[in-house]
Amino acid sequence: MVAIAYFSASDNADAYQAELTRLLPGCSFRRWPDIGDPAEVNYALVWKPPIGFFPALPHLKAVFSLGAGVDHLLTHPELPNDALIVRLVDAGMAPQMAEYALYAALHYHRDMDRYAADQAAGLWQPYPAVATADRRIGILGLGALGSEVGSRLAALGFDVAGWTRSPRDVPGLESFHGADGLEALLARSDILIILLPLTSETRGLLTEEKLRRLPQGAAVVNLARGAILPEAGLLAVLKDGHLRGAFLDVFDTEPLPADHPYRQHPNIRITPHIAAQTLVGPAAAQVAASIRRLEANMPIPGVVARQEGY
Ligand code: NAP
Ligand code: GLV
Repeated sequence: MVAIAYFSASDNADAYQAELTRLLPGCSFRRWPDIGDPAEVNYALVWKPPIGFFPALPHLKAVFSLGAGVDHLLTHPELPNDALIVRLVDAGMAPQMAEYALYAALHYHRDMDRYAADQAAGLWQPYPAVATADRRIGILGLGALGSEVGSRLAALGFDVAGWTRSPRDVPGLESFHGADGLEALLARSDILIILLPLTSETRGLLTEEKLRRLPQGAAVVNLARGAILPEAGLLAVLKDGHLRGAFLDVFDTEPLPADHPYRQHPNIRITPHIAAQTLVGPAAAQVAASIRRLEANMPIPGVVARQEGY
């Protein structure tokens, strides 16, 4: 028997119940805290589960994240040691991420930030054009999302490079990895796109000192997690003009507090963590396929390496 305990304060429980019970006939879908007999529950499907959730479910085989990120699970104080932790792999998020990244890249590549400021100031002044091939874009993280973003930007003619933990080859992209690789990647990135998981290695990674390795006038696009890009350093490099701007979808505290300096900053564009939203259809299909495989003792995609944090 398959019994799934579900918790999310931000997803559509009715839609997941309908999809999963259709895809897994006979499965029991139980919404926290109405989980029935806890001994029967063998899977969890969650986004930011509350304290008390995991201790109540002692027989979990796998915990599925309702997102690509698993930092909300790996920092959970009660996460069971013996259950698999599974993230969504693309599941319809990669095309959304590519659209957002393209929008932000074009914003800076075509000087829309400067023209918006000039319009507000009543100015009429063209800026010199830069050929697409001369615009260097750097992507931190070439996983399910970063590799799709990189491939699509490269297909449009941008000069794209990526940075990963282990050596990785994505066709059409220059690749860097490790500490030296990060220095080299930063030095050649007019637009830096962050698509790393939040782990003990990436938390606070983009310090002010690192941001100063970017070329003068570069821009940063954070689509991953706020804590990877510390706020004080970003505000400092924007203040003295080393960076021209930042496009931010993710924040240390969400919702971003009403009085946060990012809110009214002339060189920061914010969106409320919508760069790539979880889509019920593809997400439920991926989870259902993985449950079927686990029930047949077969390997599944997206299993998190706990010690690596993603
Ligand atoms: P993924 O497939 O796990 O890929 C992660 C990438 O980051 C891999 O290329 C990995 O390198 C690299 N990486 C991890 N740690 C690193 C380190 N210490 N140094 C250098 N590279 C490192 O993840 P994904 O599915 O692409 O998702 C990435 C993140 O996007 C998620 O974790 C989540 O936080 C964020 N996200 C945000 C939104 C949104 O709406 N804003 C939506 C979905 C996801 P290797 O290739 O060497 O393993
Ligand atoms: C969203 O941030 C996700 O991790 O899917």
